[in-house]
Amino acid sequence: MHALTHYWRIGMQLAAAMMLALSCLNPLAAADHLPLAKDGLHDPNNPGIKYLQEPEEALSNLPPDEVGNRVRWVKALEQRAITPRTNILQNTRIYTLNLDVLLPYTGEMPMVLFPHKQHTEWLDCTNCHEHLFKYKANTTKGLNMFNVLQGEFCGRCHGAVAFPLTECRRCHSVERK
Ligand code: HEC
Ligand code: HEC
Ligand code: HEC
Repeated sequence: MHALTHYWRIGMQLAAAMMLALSCLNPLAAADHLPLAKDGLHDPNNPGIKYLQEPEEALSNLPPDEVGNRVRWVKALEQRAITPRTNILQNTRIYTLNLDVLLPYTGEMPMVLFPHKQHTEWLDCTNCHEHLFKYKANTTKGLNMFNVLQGEFCGRCHGAVAFPLTECRRCHSVERK
């Protein structure tokens, strides 16, 4: 009976956290790229604002996305629609890794496939290892959806600077046979 109550509570917490995460979606994100003067971040009265490039001009020709900041960044890089500089200091070593890691503890959901390739094209190993993730598959303690929705692990970036957590299937992409 105690175990049942426990699982029910976890279930409710997960549902509540998901509702919260979903309700935080900015309704303005549904509009196209907001002008800088209306984004709530830039001071519309600052005379310097007219020297900045407008998001619409910068982003509207990149591969579109329905969510987040409405650019499919992985595609933009693959198609070389953008070619960002990889390093500032000449002697910085760039290290990309083509290694997928299967994260199977997903209950009824399809399993999660974590791709190193797409991540290491933007990030350094030390952005994630080992303060977020262990250097050994399926050994990171506390890696679960509840913590991800709280902004830990994948949630450090997804929902903040990378595609949002509402896109379940982009992570949960491997059907169970
Ligand atoms: C950024 C990637 C990502 C997204 C997006 C994502 N998940 Fe997850 N999810 C994970 C990871 C990682 C785990 C843990 C897998 C493991 O440890 O093997 C997980 C685990 C789960 C679990 C298993 C139970 C638990 O508490 O861990 C469920 C259920 C789940 N996710 C549901 C969802 C739903 C529903 C969505 C969309 C609203 C979603 N996830 C979106 C990465 C993601
Ligand atoms: C965006 C975050 C992120 C970055 C950046 C990253 N990794 Fe990982 N890495 C992970 C995750 C998540 C796992 C799986 C951990 C788990 O399952 O507990 C993992 C696992 C690993 C593993 C274990 C694989 C296995 O099958 O046991 C190795 C080795 C590894 N990473 C090396 C690297 C190296 C080398 C780099 C830099 C080139 C790198 N990682 C960059 C997130 C990252
Ligand atoms: C340090 C930041 C960071 C962390 C932590 C992180 N990601 Fe990402 N992830 C990114 C960025 C940046 C991109 C590329 C931009 C985008 O797609 O929004 C990305 C892209 C992806 C993609 C898209 C690949 C494609 O082909 O479109 C998947 C899938 C993904 N992440 C899953 C995960 C999962 C699962 C975890 C946790 C185990 C995780 N990420 C943790 C930053 C991160």
